[in-house]
Amino acid sequence: MDKLSTAERTEQPGPAERTGPAPALVATGIRKAYGDTEILHGIDLTVAEGEFVAVMGPSGSGKSTLLHCLAGLDRVDAGSVRLAGIELTGLSADELADRRRELMGFVFQQPTLLRDLTLLDNIVLTGALDRIGTPAERTAHAEALMARAGIAELRDRMPGEVSGGQLQRAGVCRALQRDPRIVYGDEPTGALNSSAAREVMDLLVEFNRDGTTLVVVTHDAAVAARAHRVVFLRDGAVAEELLLGGQPAERVTDVVDAMRAVGV
Ligand SMILES: Nc1ncnc2c1ncn2[C@@H]1O[C@H](COP(=O)(O)OP(=O)(O)OP(=O)(O)O)[C@@H](O)[C@H]1O
Ligand SMILES: [Mg+2]
Repeated sequence: MDKLSTAERTEQPGPAERTGPAPALVATGIRKAYGDTEILHGIDLTVAEGEFVAVMGPSGSGKSTLLHCLAGLDRVDAGSVRLAGIELTGLSADELADRRRELMGFVFQQPTLLRDLTLLDNIVLTGALDRIGTPAERTAHAEALMARAGIAELRDRMPGEVSGGQLQRAGVCRALQRDPRIVYGDEPTGALNSSAAREVMDLLVEFNRDGTTLVVVTHDAAVAARAHRVVFLRDGAVAEELLLGGQPAERVTDVVDAMRAVGV
């Protein structure tokens, strides 16, 4: 994937054009408190299969808390989270861990690759833990992902021997190794310069176009502009939703205008 950035690539078909009606994720009435302080005040969010939703909002507005609740990394105090038809809120810790491995991929601001394993082994390891396929199939799958990410030649490097952008692209491959139904990103480009950020987003958008549902928290208008829809949080509630269409430049302007209106 060497020609990552073209205007065409950012013009994604809407999720309805290639998916059925069943939503990937339906969250209703999510409330979450830490101690006596309620952080999320009853959030409703439905994400269609194949959709890319960006989540924006001021620092402290509850974006990461929401993402953690949607991924079952954190328990909600009230409300429902259904992912691929499975209600997450009532599951035991073990069941949740199984559902996470089976259904979800994660990309965080700092890639969480193990520093004593090569990039390839870091990506293969995720599949190996789940015993999906044979070792040779897992390796072939990881190599194919790395080739799409433009990092095939870095397969035997250690995480400390590559750039931040290359490392995050390996992190995206790792998140995709098990073919998750949904990928959650919490500021996946937050630590990258703009060109590395664009390459990581090109990769995520490519996987989204192939059907992977994406929910990505970001402070970056250029990142949010790649989504089908932007949900703005303010003080733990949904303040605004923006449906995106049109040309890339207009989309960035629309996001920036909405950010101003919401006070991000
Ligand atoms: N584990 C925790 N215990 C107590 N309070 C927490 C915890 N995690 C988050 N908070 C608080 O919840 C609020 C929302 O935090 P959250 O991390 O969701 O914000 P955010 O929108 O992701 O912000 P940022 O853009 O800075 O990452 C903040 O006031 C934060 O201090
Ligand atoms: Mg956060």
